[in-house]
Amino acid sequence: MKIITVTGYKGGVAKSTTAIHVATFFSELGKTILIDGDPNRTALSWAGRGAIPFSVVSEKQAMKSIGGNDYVVIDTPARPDTNDLQELAEGCDLLILPTTPDVVSLEPMLQTAEDLGDKAAFRFLITIVPPYPSKEGEVMKIELKQSNVPIFETLIRRTEGYKKAALAGVPIRDLKIADMRKFWADYKQLGKEMMEILQ
Ligand SMILES: Nc1ncnc2c1ncn2[C@@H]1O[C@H](COP(=O)(O)OP(=O)(O)OP(=O)(O)O)[C@@H](O)[C@H]1O
Ligand SMILES: [Mg+2]
Repeated sequence: MKIITVTGYKGGVAKSTTAIHVATFFSELGKTILIDGDPNRTALSWAGRGAIPFSVVSEKQAMKSIGGNDYVVIDTPARPDTNDLQELAEGCDLLILPTTPDVVSLEPMLQTAEDLGDKAAFRFLITIVPPYPSKEGEVMKIELKQSNVPIFETLIRRTEGYKKAALAGVPIRDLKIADMRKFWADYKQLGKEMMEILQ
C-alpha cells in the first residue's frame, strides 16, 4: 500500500483538485481510496455529485476503510505549521505540495523545503499555470530548481475544465468537452513521475 498526501500552507492552490486527479490516475493501476481530511469536504461533495472511479471517505471513516487498497490519497486543509507538515511527511510515502506560480509563494516554499529536509519524500507541484505567452510556470520551476527545492517537472495548466468537472462530480478525464484530454495528460504525466518516486 502506498500513501500519498496532498497538503500545503496555503488555501486555494488546487490541493483538493490534485487529490482527486492523482487518485483518478492511481485508480487505473489498483484499488484506490481518497481520504477527505478537509473540513470543507471538497472531495466528498465532488464525489457525491457524480461518479468518480475510486471511493472517498471522511477522516473518521478512514481507519475501517483503508484495508485492501493499493493506493491511499489523503487530501488535507491548508497547514501553515511546519511541525504539522513534518508529521504528515513522515506518515506517508510521498507528500505533494501544490503551489501557484507567484513570487510571494517563493519565500515560504524555501522555508518549508528546508524544514522538511531529507527525512521524507516530498515535491512541490506548480498548479493553475496560465497559458502561453505567460511564462510564469516555467520561470517558477527554474527558480525553485536553482534553489534546490524538490519539484515535479510536470506543470498543471489552468483550465475552466476543473470547475466544470467539480460541478459534474467527475474527474476532468471523464468530462465530455473538447480539449479535456490534453489537460488530463498533465496529471497522467505527473502520475509517471510519482510512480518513479514510489518504486
Ligand atoms: N488547473 C486548474 N485550472 C483552473 N482552475 C483550477 C485548477 N485547479 C484548481 N482550480 C480551481 O481553483 C479553486 C481551488 O481549488 P481547490 O479547491 O482544489 O484548492 P484547495 O487548495 O484544495 O483549496 P482549500 O485550501 O480551500 O482546500 C477551485 O475553484 C478549482 O476549481
Ligand atoms: Mg481543498
